[in-house]
Amino acid sequence: MRLTGRRLADRSPRSTWRPIRGLSRKWQGLRLEFDYRYGRSARNVARRNSRRAYEKLYAADDLLSEYLVPERLEFYDEVASIASHYVRRSVVDFGCGSGNLLRAVLDRAADSCEGRPQRVLALDHARSAVKRTADLVPEAERRVFDLMRDDLGGERFDLVLCTEVLEHLRRPGIARDRLAAACAPGGTILITVPDGAIDAWQGHVNFWTEDGLASFLEPIGATTVDRIDAGRGLLALVRPA
Ligand SMILES: C[S@@+](CC[C@H](N)C(=O)[O-])C[C@H]1O[C@@H](n2cnc3c(N)ncnc32)[C@H](O)[C@@H]1O
Repeated sequence: MRLTGRRLADRSPRSTWRPIRGLSRKWQGLRLEFDYRYGRSARNVARRNSRRAYEKLYAADDLLSEYLVPERLEFYDEVASIASHYVRRSVVDFGCGSGNLLRAVLDRAADSCEGRPQRVLALDHARSAVKRTADLVPEAERRVFDLMRDDLGGERFDLVLCTEVLEHLRRPGIARDRLAAACAPGGTILITVPDGAIDAWQGHVNFWTEDGLASFLEPIGATTVDRIDAGRGLLALVRPA
């Protein structure tokens, strides 16, 4: 058979490798996509939204440092600048996570006229979170505590914190009522959640808008809701009657 000019060109080394290179690029793309969706990362662990997943996140230094990005630390600082005004004698943090928020609140309060509270309690259902908080907030009593099941036996606090937790809970009404039960007369409950109007994170099960959050919290007390975190989050202050 005679080879035409075109057939000769097709047999050049460049054209032989072209399909292989194409396949290799496709494979790399698939691997990147797979790692992004299922690989070991703080994002993929937190997305599972289970106690086991949080145990893993707070136990691993690499995952936690990935989670505590500068924006998250700035968020804690912004929340602490508000929360520190309500500290008075006692503070409890429900779902304390790494303890960074509680640390920021106590430091801010110590720097202001609020001073140091006599009693600080940090609670989380993940044991590894409670352990992290022990390093960061040694002055706090720490406890493994499930917001869905456990109660504080009637103990009450001047400031009740619950940041970035309620959006993870399948029955948030139970948690809301526990927060109210833990608030001392004249005390304040401070809650943050992402703005559900723009949030689409797969690890969340509740998506409250500003008005929706106010309606959800009003049964436990007078509520104000403001935007924080450059408009991405909602911060509610509740004063139980
Ligand atoms: C997104 S993290 C927020 C942690 C911390 N409050 C913050 O602002 O960084 C959610 C936290 O809620 C805790 N959590 C989730 N469900 C809980 C439950 N039923 N009881 C107690 N803690 C819970 C998780 O272990 C995790 O530490």
